[in-house]
Amino acid sequence: MNLSNWNTPLSYLGLATLAYITIKFTRSATTFLLPSGLTRYNRTKANWALVTGASDGIGFGFCQELCHRGFNVILHGRNRAKLEKRVQGLNAQFPMAKVEIVVCDVVGLTGAVDEIGSEVREILTAQGGELSVLVNNVGGETRPYTVLSDLRFDEVDATIAKNAVFMTQITRVLLPLLEKGDGGLCVYAATKGFVDSFTKALEAECKNEKRNVEVLGLRVGQVRTAGFDIAPGLFSPEARTLASAGLNRIGCGRVIVWAYFWHWLQGLSFDIMPRWLLVKVSIDRMMALKKEDEEKAKKR
Ligand SMILES: NC(=O)c1ccc[n+]([C@@H]2O[C@H](COP(=O)([O-])OP(=O)(O)OC[C@H]3O[C@@H](n4cnc5c(N)ncnc54)[C@H](OP(=O)(O)O)[C@@H]3O)[C@@H](O)[C@H]2O)c1
Repeated sequence: MNLSNWNTPLSYLGLATLAYITIKFTRSATTFLLPSGLTRYNRTKANWALVTGASDGIGFGFCQELCHRGFNVILHGRNRAKLEKRVQGLNAQFPMAKVEIVVCDVVGLTGAVDEIGSEVREILTAQGGELSVLVNNVGGETRPYTVLSDLRFDEVDATIAKNAVFMTQITRVLLPLLEKGDGGLCVYAATKGFVDSFTKALEAECKNEKRNVEVLGLRVGQVRTAGFDIAPGLFSPEARTLASAGLNRIGCGRVIVWAYFWHWLQGLSFDIMPRWLLVKVSIDRMMALKKEDEEKAKKR
C-alpha cells in the first residue's frame, strides 16, 4: 500500500464517506441492543393500550404481547363478534389483563370517529387507569397484486382510508388522552410513504408543542398472518414475534425504525442494492406471491 496517496482530496472524501456509512450503520444497528422503554408507560400497572385492526394478524399479536407485558388493552376492529371472540381468548390467556373493544369500520369514515374518544373515556372512567399507548396497525390492501388502472374507485378509496385516513383521525381523537396517560404513543406503520411522513411530522409537532408523547414508526417486512399465509421463517416471523420486537424498540430515541432485526438486515440490503435490481427483486417476489395466491384460490 502506498501511504503517500492518503493525502489526496479523493482519499479524504473516501474516508468521510466511510465514516458517514459507519455512523449511519452503527446508529441503526444499536436500536436492537437497547432495552425497551415500554415499562415507563405503565408504571401504575393500570394503564391501557389501544390497538387498531386488532382482531387478526399483527394487531392481535400486539394485543397478546401488551397483555403479556402487563397492559390492559382496547381492541379496535370492524367485526364485533370476531372481536368478542378475541377478548375471550385474551381473558383466558392473560387473566390479569382487562380487555375491551371499540367497533368502527375504517372505510367510509365520518365525523362519528370522534365517538371512539368518548367510548375510550368511558372505559377509563369505569375501569381506572389511563390510555398510554396507541398502536396504529390497521391497514393492508383492498385487492392485492392489482395495478392502479385495474382498481375501481371504491377499492383505491378503501386502501387510502385503511392505511392513511383512519390513522390520522384516530391519532387526532386520542392524542389528548395519550398526553394525560404519561405520554406514550406508538405509531405502528408499515413501509408506507404517508405513514412515514405523518409520523415524522407528528413527532416534530409534539416536540415543538412540548407534548409529553413519544412517537415511533415501525417499518415491517413480511409477516405471517391469516391474510398473508406465507411459510414461517427467519425473514417472515409470526405476528406476535413481530409485535414483541416492535415493543422492544420503544424508547430507542429514533422516529422510524425497523421493528425486527432480520427485516432490518433485509432493508439494509435494499438500501445498498441498485434501484433496477431492487425493482426486479420486488416484482419477481410479487409475481410469485400472486401465483401462489391464485393457485390457493383454485384449490378452495
Ligand atoms: N403481514 C405482513 O407481511 C405485513 C408486511 C408489512 C406491513 N404490514 C402491515 O401491517 C398491518 C397489519 O397487517 P396484517 O398482515 O396483520 O393484516 P391482517 O391480518 O389482514 O389484519 C388486519 C386487521 O385490520 C382489520 N381491518 C381490516 N379492514 C378493516 C376495516 N375496514 N375497518 C376496521 N378494521 C379493519 C382486520 O379486521 P377483520 O378481522 O375484521 O378483517 C384485522 O383485524 C397493516 O397495516 C399492513 O399494511 C403487514
